[in-house]
Amino acid sequence: MYEATVSAPVNIACIKYWGKRDTKLILPTNSSLSVTLDQDHLRSTTTSRADESFEKGDRLWLNGKEETIKQGGRLGVCISELRGWRKIEEDKDSSLPKLSQWPLRIASYNNFPTAAGLASSASGLAALVASLAKLFQLPQNASQLSIIARQGSGSACRSLFGGYVAWREGTEKDGSDSLAEQIESETHWPEIHALICVVSDAKKGTSSTSGMQRTVETSTLLKERLNLVPSRMNDISQAIRSKNFEKFAILTMKDSNSFHSVCLDTFPPIFYLNDVSKSIIQVIEELNRSSGKIIAAYTFDAGPNAVIYSLQENIGKVIGAIKKFFPTEEDNQVDPFNTKPEELPVDFNENVVRQGGWEKGAVKSLIHTKVGDGPRTLSKEESLLNDQGEPK
Ligand code: DP6
Repeated sequence: MYEATVSAPVNIACIKYWGKRDTKLILPTNSSLSVTLDQDHLRSTTTSRADESFEKGDRLWLNGKEETIKQGGRLGVCISELRGWRKIEEDKDSSLPKLSQWPLRIASYNNFPTAAGLASSASGLAALVASLAKLFQLPQNASQLSIIARQGSGSACRSLFGGYVAWREGTEKDGSDSLAEQIESETHWPEIHALICVVSDAKKGTSSTSGMQRTVETSTLLKERLNLVPSRMNDISQAIRSKNFEKFAILTMKDSNSFHSVCLDTFPPIFYLNDVSKSIIQVIEELNRSSGKIIAAYTFDAGPNAVIYSLQENIGKVIGAIKKFFPTEEDNQVDPFNTKPEELPVDFNENVVRQGGWEKGAVKSLIHTKVGDGPRTLSKEESLLNDQGEPK
């Protein structure tokens, strides 16, 4: 049987990707940099199988629900590019089975609820690309594969690596140098932990794809931001290499704020942060001030959820502060490290949070995780497909 099962991680950017210079190839207006989160906690798993006896046409299921693969659509492009690479190998070596000509069955599963509001497209597309590359036994390395994942969803290219990852914007028109590279692996600085605060949000926000397009078309502030990013990319890479948390944290917070300013400067404006998100910013700023040094960094993507980076030695203080001001139902707290929440620093000014604090559930759930590795190849036992090539 020709089959491969791979899991891939979520990544959260410190220097944000926001804007495309080519919407078809998904070429960004700036480079970006992210931390890969541990797959032990959050992951997408994909099984891909090729079989001559399958009925014609590829089929794909996402969390058990069949999705259509549109020719020329994002998924369709990823699959056909990888098939093309397989074909090259088959043409070189006629003894290889002609997998490139056989129909595919693909099943993908996220171990975190899509409703949690966590972006699943990055880990999902990365798992799809990595599993097909494994099935086809492709010789391309992870950076080359990232060129394909990028065309599924920009941020997905960074999920092909563990640790600290840069997506280089590139200059070539065909996108051949717009790819992901590892800055440092997860073992270089394993002390980086992350607390994901899932913030309730009733309304459906603007998707990143359409939001960033509107920003490119209407924001004048974006031009200022694009001038800043190259030095931020250098500085944060330097901070990661030298494990300088304060520098890493300041750049992360400033870049999140810059990205959300550009959203506000878009016309009509885009609001991703809500009052709870802003209150989390104030709590973290006050935690840093009252600690006498920067011990935590917040960052927000295209929604109200916060991701807070902190060193392992300080994450108890972060968890303590968040739990105090944003009470969450006990069963909605995932902490594989069993961290003890710590007291606020004595000098903490509680007036930064509105009188009476936030009602229970304003932060719906908390997930404590850390920096982690890149895609993993799983065993046959973990296949998501049954003998007929349908989801188990
Ligand atoms: C705010 O990768 O989801 O999370 O390329 O259109 O699929 P498309 O967009 P997507 O955008 C992610 C935007 C972000 C910042 C980031 O992850 O760098």
